[in-house]
Amino acid sequence: MTVREEIEQLKKEKNAVILAHYYVRPEVQELADYIGDSFYLSKVAVGLKEQTIVFCGVSFMGESAKILNPGKTVLMPDARADCAMAHMADPETIRRMRETYDDLAVVCYINSTAELKRCSDVCVTSANALKIVKALPNRNIFFIPDRNLAHYIAQMTPEKHFVYNKGFCPVHEQMQVSEIRKAKEEHPDALVLTHPECPEEVLEMSDYVGSTSGIIDYAEKSDASEFIICTENGVRYELEKRCPDKRFYFTETEPVCEDMKMITPEKILHVLRTGENEVTLEETARVEAEEPLKRMLELAR
Ligand code: 13P
Ligand code: SF4
Repeated sequence: MTVREEIEQLKKEKNAVILAHYYVRPEVQELADYIGDSFYLSKVAVGLKEQTIVFCGVSFMGESAKILNPGKTVLMPDARADCAMAHMADPETIRRMRETYDDLAVVCYINSTAELKRCSDVCVTSANALKIVKALPNRNIFFIPDRNLAHYIAQMTPEKHFVYNKGFCPVHEQMQVSEIRKAKEEHPDALVLTHPECPEEVLEMSDYVGSTSGIIDYAEKSDASEFIICTENGVRYELEKRCPDKRFYFTETEPVCEDMKMITPEKILHVLRTGENEVTLEETARVEAEEPLKRMLELAR
């Protein structure tokens, strides 16, 4: 039996479903039942009929799925696959901000640990952050952990007062204006599509800024036929699948999230066979982290 056949068989035997983020390897995306960005995957994770969720992504994604589905088994193909940004805030600073500012909402990007979610009022993803921040009654917003997404949302919500945190995504942070200019010189007709985790100066030179799904949808619907993609290179697989007649270029230093690339078909097979790498959370922590996630799902509806 091939790895794929064995995975399919075990999925049936164990009543399992595979979820994958667009940043994982193409061969993993091919095995997934659901592929999407963080917002789509958090919605999909609620209400699945299968008992076991194999989450092909980094740890905050599996954790969020477990927080929202305490009765299900969530397995991570590689337990070491983590998001550096998810740890770039701290509960002590959040407590201090709450003491400093009246009328403060702690808005937590879903790319964060369960511990940070517990200290927050609402979660957001890059796809729904603007809608949710606008919907909040609070004027003061402490946005954790990502400073780049925070600045992007702040620009579009002048009625709010933002307090910034210092976190960033090491993959998107390294996007260079000079490399994008070079790509533009080589492909002058290409539109620049950018993820809001990129630095402000990169967003400023972009034709479109949006989540991973937003970028893919934009490219699909656009009349243009060439695009410079400023996000993790895993999106190439879905872009080329949906738009076989369009051309997609990346910067010379292609952005790669090494943690997302740790997931392989063999590791999916291994956890399906063994049940290893199950996500577990202490119940009080889970319940407290569930509140901001549920609020996100309600406000984004
Ligand atoms: P989205 O899935 O919201 O586009 O976020 C990108 C990302 O960095 C996920 O880790
Ligand atoms: Fe985290 Fe960045 Fe990797 Fe997304 S791309 S998982 S934000 S390190």
